[in-house]
Amino acid sequence: HERDNSMGINLANDSQLQALAEQINAAGAGSWRAMPLVPGANLAADAESRGMLAVTNPADRRETVGRWQPADSATVEKALQNAVAAQPGWDATPAASRAAILEHAATLLEARMPQYMAMCTKEAGKTLSDGVAEVREAVDFLRYYAAQARKHFAVEALPGPTGESNTLQLAGRGVFVCISPWNFPLAIFMGQVAAALAAGNSVIAKPAEQTNLIGHAAVKLLHEAGIPEAVLQFLPGDGATVGAALTRDPRVAGVAFTGSTETARAINRALAGRESGAIAVLIAETGGQNALIADSSALPEQLVKDALSSAFTSAGQRCSAARVLFVQEDIADKVVHMLAGAMAELKVGDPGLLSTDVGPVIDADALALLEDHAAKMAKDATLIATATTDDSIEHGTFFAPRAWELKSLSQLTRENFGPALHVIRWKAEDLDQVVDTINATGFGLTLGIHSRIDESIDRIVQRAKVGNIYVNRNQIGAVVGVQPFGGQNLSGTGPKAGGPHYLPRFATEKTVTVNT
Ligand code: SER
Repeated sequence: HERDNSMGINLANDSQLQALAEQINAAGAGSWRAMPLVPGANLAADAESRGMLAVTNPADRRETVGRWQPADSATVEKALQNAVAAQPGWDATPAASRAAILEHAATLLEARMPQYMAMCTKEAGKTLSDGVAEVREAVDFLRYYAAQARKHFAVEALPGPTGESNTLQLAGRGVFVCISPWNFPLAIFMGQVAAALAAGNSVIAKPAEQTNLIGHAAVKLLHEAGIPEAVLQFLPGDGATVGAALTRDPRVAGVAFTGSTETARAINRALAGRESGAIAVLIAETGGQNALIADSSALPEQLVKDALSSAFTSAGQRCSAARVLFVQEDIADKVVHMLAGAMAELKVGDPGLLSTDVGPVIDADALALLEDHAAKMAKDATLIATATTDDSIEHGTFFAPRAWELKSLSQLTRENFGPALHVIRWKAEDLDQVVDTINATGFGLTLGIHSRIDESIDRIVQRAKVGNIYVNRNQIGAVVGVQPFGGQNLSGTGPKAGGPHYLPRFATEKTVTVNT
């Protein structure tokens, strides 16, 4: 049986690693550009010198890795006109043809993994292993939604007692706006766009302002694979000029958004406030306050390894990352001690080195929020450990991974998006209460469980209001197609990315009944 998910690159293989390093070095960092991709827009000829903003490397702010040009209001308007005009033709293209283009894009992307990994490292501060995972996930999304389009868009006959011919057909909704986050600048960007395109929509893609270069490269690749330029347009820019203008426009039929809960609410309000146009659909994936519950039957070594990976991989900048470890008091001293020991071994630094475990956080604003949190914790909590760092990080936006012990979850008033873990002890009789406390945050994204007692696992699974539960392993890195990803409540609207119900949400349904 042929494997459906992308294989990636084996970083343990020296010759593959050598070749990778050479390709990454040749990827052209410094000369990368991201301009709006909007046919017919009047991008000033001299924009290169006038309107280009520098993109710097989060690991070393002295390095400019590329430049980008924000779209202005006229370009936003032109993009909307193009998208409206182009959508019917794309919708009329057979779903199998749309799928074939996405599959072609997957093949191109897989072959160019080093180029995209280089961008993930230089623009987003991703480690090499995160870069491999990122490209693989993007490839997987392309293939998965292509396959889903073939399946869902096949006309389904519904024979029945009426003596008529009944069929159910799917079609695109219209113009879809995809607003993606910087923490998965390629994978989530590609996932949203691929699903919207596969379902027959024209798409305007607006990446997070921190990762325009990767978004631009992703759109260029899709154009090369065969997506018409007016069907998929790229609109980099700030939230006020681009995001807000798009979401209040009645020509927009739907929005796919991944980012903060607060921004999802603002988009929801903008869509709801429109006085004309369709009642638009919003597919939002937002934040979390993800917990890991360990009882006294957990294996401490495995628990600590998985807690470390869940909290500090990708510098904790995954919406799935573990933020709070609830550990049963009987094993808490031992676990806290081992956690401190393991954190001392973490290598913080240049994400381009294979030996690095934790790279930089995305930018100065993210760092300031984490420093703020650390200052608050210095007053309210007990520091368990801070990972060691050296001078090599002085020019980047690095936050040394930290863990604190808290008395209660109420001490955390927001999601801390970075390598910050919190530990809370609990007593055996309080298991239900622990789960209720987690539910009461209102977030419901991932939950880790470490236990060897089946009844306790079942009890937690039943009670927890979260989207993804991981038992006796880490709680990050959902695999497309087999671990559909996404939360509930404050964590998102559903449907789950990489799951069977995602694509249909981008489509409308038409029932056709013929009296035969
Ligand atoms: N899909 C990502 C993960 O599972 C989301 O952050 O880690």
